[in-house]
Amino acid sequence: MELVRLVYVSKISDTFNEADIVNILETARSNNHKHGVTGLLCFNRKFFLQCLEGNRNTVNYIYNLILNDNRHQDKVMLYYQPIVQRAFSNWSMGYVPDTALTAEINLMFSDSIEFTPYEMTGESAHQLMLELKEKVNVV
Ligand SMILES: Cc1cc2nc3c(=O)[nH]c(=O)nc-3n(C[C@H](O)[C@H](O)[C@H](O)COP(=O)(O)O)c2cc1C
Repeated sequence: MELVRLVYVSKISDTFNEADIVNILETARSNNHKHGVTGLLCFNRKFFLQCLEGNRNTVNYIYNLILNDNRHQDKVMLYYQPIVQRAFSNWSMGYVPDTALTAEINLMFSDSIEFTPYEMTGESAHQLMLELKEKVNVV
């Protein structure tokens, strides 16, 4: 089954609590590890930008779980492509916090110094995450 990469953006819902991010990462890492999914999650306390890579059926399955999660809303898929290799194979779900989303890096991939993932093309969002992988200490 072929490998795909999916990137989507969402924003926190009213029910979201700051502490939820710990639980989200824990579940994501454990589930993704089990299913051979890798990726990156950027979060600036308002918006999520997430990349999922893996077997097409598995990525679709995990994305469906994510779509049904009411801790976030307004989910929009920005990018969905077959890929020849993973970009984030070191992380079952790498995490990029708001401190890493600097004005410099935001300006490189958008028309603003703010983190505005809804305004990005899928390709810009993907390139932003590749840049973060190289320049930031992803945990
Ligand atoms: C922003 C965000 C990102 C998430 N990322 C993942 C993920 O990468 N993998 C995953 O399995 N669940 C992820 N989740 C959690 C799922 O939405 C869902 O709660 C979880 O898969 C349910 O797993 P469980 O049935 O094992 O509790 C994410 C949730 C949110 C809000």
